[in-house]
Amino acid sequence: MTNYSYIYSFKYDFHHSDLCKLESRQLFDKEEKNGMLFSNIKVDPSISPFIKKRFDIISSSENYSELLKNIKKENIGVDGFKVEYLTLDGDPTEYSERLNKLREIGFIIDAAPNYYSPSITYSLCYYENVWYFGVLKKQNIDWHKHKNKPYSFSNSISINIAKTLVNIASKGNKFNRIIDACCGTGTVILEGCISGYNIEGCDNNLKVYQHTINNLSYYNYTANVYLTDIKDHNKKYDSAIIDLPYNLYSHTNDTLISNIIESTSKIAARVVIVSISDIESIIKKSGLKISDFCTVEKRGKINFTRNIWVCEKEISKD
Ligand SMILES: C[S@@+](CC[C@H](N)C(=O)[O-])C[C@H]1O[C@@H](n2cnc3c(N)ncnc32)[C@H](O)[C@@H]1O
Repeated sequence: MTNYSYIYSFKYDFHHSDLCKLESRQLFDKEEKNGMLFSNIKVDPSISPFIKKRFDIISSSENYSELLKNIKKENIGVDGFKVEYLTLDGDPTEYSERLNKLREIGFIIDAAPNYYSPSITYSLCYYENVWYFGVLKKQNIDWHKHKNKPYSFSNSISINIAKTLVNIASKGNKFNRIIDACCGTGTVILEGCISGYNIEGCDNNLKVYQHTINNLSYYNYTANVYLTDIKDHNKKYDSAIIDLPYNLYSHTNDTLISNIIESTSKIAARVVIVSISDIESIIKKSGLKISDFCTVEKRGKINFTRNIWVCEKEISKD
């Protein structure tokens, strides 16, 4: 009925729409649309701030009675199960009809249900004339605890952006070796750690380096952090993230930025660069090729826009 194995549901604030689409292009090679996406790529929803649920398709049919027969054939007998309805874009099914359908499926499953603390959550959804039955995996919101990390800058990137940067840099590959080249207080490293990525950090400022060390130990993470200028760091990585110094509280100029980008591109083939200035020409001069881009607005005491460039090292033709 469908060639896809997974349906993802997304939720995000309006000002994160472009960031969510950038993340989904990098993780799934296509954009989420209207808060949903069909894919054969398996991603744990907990690594993304925007993916709320993953629906693992067990059976699908244009005919609802047919779907019930298919569910019966599955002989599901898992005690502690729950059945939930997943409402997708364009589903006209009324609330009462949804409840009836969930009840019908509940009766078919030959096991004891548990609504409050289920061992497994089955799910029903409807999209473009097709009924789907599957297992629902929800985002674990444990990462929200990082909002209360002991040390941060008032203009540090949000944990939402930090979380997506790690996914964008690695394309979701947990075997990638990632470096946060200007780690500041460690916002990005914390998100890499909780998502199970192989991530390290580097900063040339003693005070913020210590803040990162303290933030990591507060949550018992063991990522390596180096107190060094990125130009003196010679270890190799698959991908790097650079949240460039901004002019708000620190002095920076084009030469410093260019040096940071060039040094980072020597140790990683793929670099995700964040800056509040338009530095596209500096990136291009550094020999990196921009493969994707988005902007994220920051609203608060000071309003500004962050630019995010996804870059790859240009392979020399010689
Ligand atoms: C915008 S802040 C990063 C903020 C960080 N993402 C956070 O959430 O805390 C940029 C950081 O780059 C560091 N930095 C500046 N030049 C550097 C260099 N050449 N090598 C390594 N770190 C550098 C600064 O010390 C500063 O902490």
